[in-house]
Amino acid sequence: MTGDTAPATRFGRADREPGILAECRDVARTYGKGPTAVVAVHGITCRIRPGLRLAVTGPSGSGKSTLLHLIAGIDRPTAGTVEWPDLHHRATEVGVVFQGPSLLPALDATENVALPLLLAGEPEDEAFRRARSALGRLAIDDLGGKLPDELSGGQAQRVAVARVLAARPLLIVADEPTGQLDHESAERVMTVLAATADELGAALVVATHDPFVAARLGQEWTMRDGRLHGAADPGLAERNGETR
Ligand SMILES: Nc1ncnc2c1ncn2[C@@H]1O[C@H](COP(=O)(O)OP(=O)(O)O)[C@@H](O)[C@H]1O
Ligand SMILES: [Mg+2]
Repeated sequence: MTGDTAPATRFGRADREPGILAECRDVARTYGKGPTAVVAVHGITCRIRPGLRLAVTGPSGSGKSTLLHLIAGIDRPTAGTVEWPDLHHRATEVGVVFQGPSLLPALDATENVALPLLLAGEPEDEAFRRARSALGRLAIDDLGGKLPDELSGGQAQRVAVARVLAARPLLIVADEPTGQLDHESAERVMTVLAATADELGAALVVATHDPFVAARLGQEWTMRDGRLHGAADPGLAERNGETR
């Protein structure tokens, strides 16, 4: 601790407004150019704060994955801005569970989970200890030695969730993380994601089609044709075209 009067928190000072992990202002993302261009996201303004438990719902093709990728900083908007005011190192502080396959095929499940930690400079024994612990929380510790092509889609999806949890991010962005899971496994994944977010003081943003998954989270924003419906943040709702 320093001798400052107001105690510092992970998100700035305790006497300040709570942190903003991600902020989108009038963000749009268009794929392609000319007559075949697709506007996947239109003029979205929203804030992601610590502790947020958010479901992003909406039909297939409505822009959920695009919005999540923009919030996570793994895609860039074609208009507007995305910022992470209270993150210090976005690449390690944002964890993304991708909708599609994302494991490296030459590495077994434990190595896949440990890799981001090793790349971040974590000692090998600590990286593998955390990797095994994350697999254990998802009840797939028996799969640690398997290569991705020896796993079912649902098993690979849980390994991808473990990889994010082991990295202890402050913003967890999960794109349909239960899409290939039976109800019991989906419930476990949601319980572990929420418990880990609680422990880390993190925000959890989950794109989902599953009403059960959406109901487990505190808030729901709905995407329709690239537009966001649902109060994104007090004071910002009006700018999203909301009329509450
Ligand atoms: N890489 C891409 N190139 C061209 N169009 C894309 C690309 N990714 C997504 N789209 C289009 O953008 C729209 C939104 O897609 P997406 O964000 O994946 O929606 P969702 O996750 O809700 O299914 C869809 O019309 C989709 O076809
Ligand atoms: Mg998607």
